[in-house]
Amino acid sequence: MPGLLCPPGQLLALLVLVLQLTGSLELQCPVPRISNGQLRSAQNFTAGSTATLECDAGYQPGGASKAQCLPVGLWYPRVLTCIPGQCSHPPAVSNANLNHEYKFIVGTTVTYSCHRGFTLIPGVSPTTTCLKNFTWSAVPKLCQKVQCPTPVIPHGREISARKAEYTFGQQVEFQCDLGYVLKGSQRSQCSSDGMWRPPIPYCDRVCDPPPQITKGQHSALGTKVFPYGFEVKYTCVEGLSLIGDESIYCTSDDGENLTWSGPAPECRAVRCPKPTVERGRMIPQRFTFPYGVALQFSCDEGFVLSGATESQCQADGTWDPPVPTCQPVLCPRPQVAYGGLKSPLDDKTWYQINETVTLECAPGYQFSDNGNMSLEGSWTATCLPGGNWTPLPKCKKEGGADVCEEVHYIKSLFHCGVPVAEMKALLEIQKLFLEIKKLQIELENWSRTGAL
Ligand SMILES: *[C@@H]1O[C@H](CO)[C@@H](O)[C@H](O)[C@H]1NC(C)=O
Ligand SMILES: *[C@@H]1O[C@H](CO)[C@@H](O)[C@H](O)[C@H]1NC(C)=O
Ligand SMILES: *[C@@H]1O[C@H](CO)[C@@H](O)[C@H](O)[C@H]1NC(C)=O
Ligand SMILES: *[C@@H]1O[C@H](CO)[C@@H](O)[C@H](O)[C@H]1NC(C)=O
Ligand SMILES: *[C@@H]1O[C@H](CO)[C@@H](O)[C@H](O)[C@H]1NC(C)=O
Repeated sequence: MPGLLCPPGQLLALLVLVLQLTGSLELQCPVPRISNGQLRSAQNFTAGSTATLECDAGYQPGGASKAQCLPVGLWYPRVLTCIPGQCSHPPAVSNANLNHEYKFIVGTTVTYSCHRGFTLIPGVSPTTTCLKNFTWSAVPKLCQKVQCPTPVIPHGREISARKAEYTFGQQVEFQCDLGYVLKGSQRSQCSSDGMWRPPIPYCDRVCDPPPQITKGQHSALGTKVFPYGFEVKYTCVEGLSLIGDESIYCTSDDGENLTWSGPAPECRAVRCPKPTVERGRMIPQRFTFPYGVALQFSCDEGFVLSGATESQCQADGTWDPPVPTCQPVLCPRPQVAYGGLKSPLDDKTWYQINETVTLECAPGYQFSDNGNMSLEGSWTATCLPGGNWTPLPKCKKEGGADVCEEVHYIKSLFHCGVPVAEMKALLEIQKLFLEIKKLQIELENWSRTGAL
């Protein structure tokens, strides 16, 4: 068609307008692309309609939640977003803390921990999660009070009323049965770790009160409890002697029951007689001799102790070992080689001090010196206070050289290391000498027996 000179754009706009006016064309907005959400509208996004932004579960509008389709076919606002949703602060749980977090985006899991003295109930999960509907998953009861084991105290009991269960912070107090003593703390508390602090005490056996004694007393008069190892000491009233063990101890024979280590001692008047020792002395010097006293004895000069040097006064009033005696010192029978007593009447085993004996040599022998030789060729010896004799005589063969001396001489030469050849010569000479001696003796004996 000629004569119509319009640019194509203006023509299009005009066409749209005409179509709109005639109602044959309705202008629409495009379906927007929104991640994690979409626009919804009842009017098919026609111009002038309003649409609502619907985010996917767990998401929420990042800005406006509604959009308008403008007559020109464009959305206002132009961009709509869905962002991850958040929960409010997680719910408080009694006796539990939350680990610190500040943002609770959908899907976040938080963990609770129990307060001190509380413990997680077995089988429950201490967590909650931010759900897609921005609420927290349900949290059950999480924490319960820490429980301590029921206290057990053999031979004792709890003073405080017994309970079905013992929880953190609870205190208990104990007492032992009669005949037992508490070892440890009387009070204990259930601590946050489920242990009793201080530990539960125990009841230890004790001894019965120690036996009383007449005429004496023991060291534990004010004491009420007698634990293992306890020592009790006894004393007697003045003038009496303690017979038995001075102390007894609380001990155990069977490892279970406690008993005293022995019977209590006795208090008795024990006096030993004054010991008499003729020609002797005793120390210490005393006038009474009660039980347990020990004395030491010694004798005067010329006397010797027969028996024990020390004796003790016994519980039965006797001395043990027995009191000794002092016996005079004696000299033994004098021993003289090749000699003896002149008078057989003098012969005895022991000789008294100052006693005198006369000695003589055997026939063919004579005193080796003239010391105390009497005219008759006898020797006098006296028994001295120490039990020894005055010098005794030596008897030697009458006449001739002393053969024994000769032998000793040879022996000494031999010891000194004289050369063997020389020694041999010497021994030959010696042999000759001895043979001559032998001959002489034989001759002598022969002449003597011949004379008889
Ligand atoms: C929207 O469009 C559909 C088909 O595209 C039509 O069936 C419906 O009637 C329309 N709704 C309105 C309110 O125009
Ligand atoms: C959120 O969702 C959970 C499970 O998906 C449901 O149990 C709960 O009732 C919902 N809460 C609300 C407030 O809709
Ligand atoms: C300890 O003493 C009790 C009562 O006296 C007794 O029944 C028990 O057998 C004793 N125990 C032992 C190991 O002897
Ligand atoms: C022995 O004799 C001396 C003096 O001759 C005398 O003093 C002494 O008491 C005597 N001894 C005894 C034990 O007789
Ligand atoms: C001789 O005997 C007397 C006592 O009788 C004595 O005192 C003296 O020492 C004795 N002499 C010798 C040499 O033994």
